[in-house]
Amino acid sequence: MNAPLSAALAVFSQLPPAERFHVHARAFSAPLEAVAARVPVGGSVADVGCGHGLLSALISLGDSRRQVHGVDPDPRKIEWAQTGPGRLPNVKVEVGTVESLAERLPGHFDTVVVCDVLYLLPAERWPGFLAQARRLLRPGGRLLLKEAEGNGSWKHYKCLAQEMVMVKLLGRTKAGGALVLQPREEMEALLRRVGFTPRETVELGTGYSTPHILYVAEATAGDSAA
Ligand SMILES: C[S@@+](CC[C@H](N)C(=O)[O-])C[C@H]1O[C@@H](n2cnc3c(N)ncnc32)[C@H](O)[C@@H]1O
Repeated sequence: MNAPLSAALAVFSQLPPAERFHVHARAFSAPLEAVAARVPVGGSVADVGCGHGLLSALISLGDSRRQVHGVDPDPRKIEWAQTGPGRLPNVKVEVGTVESLAERLPGHFDTVVVCDVLYLLPAERWPGFLAQARRLLRPGGRLLLKEAEGNGSWKHYKCLAQEMVMVKLLGRTKAGGALVLQPREEMEALLRRVGFTPRETVELGTGYSTPHILYVAEATAGDSAA
C-alpha cells in the first residue's frame, strides 16, 4: 500500500472493526487517490456525499492548505467521519445534502467532489443535484464527478449487482430509490446543460471490477442553466 493511502486509513484507527473494514474495502475497490490527485492545490473543497470520509482524508492529507468540508445525509456515516477525518485540522464534516450546503455557502468552493453518489439517485434528480453542485462553486471552480460508467460491459452489470447487495441486503448505503449508471456521452451533455464545461473524462477502471469513470468539469462563468 502506498504512503498517502496508509496515512488516510490510519485516520480511521479509532473506529470499530466493522467500520474500519468497510473503509479498507472502499480503499481497495475505488480509485480514490486518482480522484484526490486531481484536486487543485490549496483552496476550499466540498466533498458531497462524503460517507465515512476516506476521500476527504486523502484530499486533506494531500495538502494541509486545503479546507475540506464534507456533507452526507446519513447521520451514522457522519458520526464515523467525525471520529476519523473530522479530527484533522483542515476537515469539517456534518450531516447535510448538496442542497443544504448550496443554500448556506453558494459560490464558496474552489472544488466540489461528488464520488459515487449520483448512481444512488433516480436519473430525474441528477440535473437538480448537479445544478446545486454548480451553485456551490465559484466561477471557474472545478467539479470532480466520479461515477461508474453505464457501458453495458460485464463490469457495469457486476457493479449493479454489488450495489444491490450493499443497499438492499446489507443496508450499508442509503439509496435515493435507484441504481443508475449513465453512458459518458449523456453525462457530458448533462454537465453542459447545468452550467459546466467538461474538461476531461478519465477512465479509471483498469485493475478494478467496476467501470470507474471520472468527469472533470469547470463551472462555466455566469448563472447555471438549470
Ligand atoms: C457509495 S457512498 C460514497 C461515499 C464517498 N463519497 C466515497 O467515495 O467513499 C454514497 C454516499 O452518498 C450518500 N448520499 C445518498 N444520497 C445523497 C444525497 N442526496 N446527497 C448527498 N449524499 C447522498 C450516501 O449517504 C452515501 O454515504
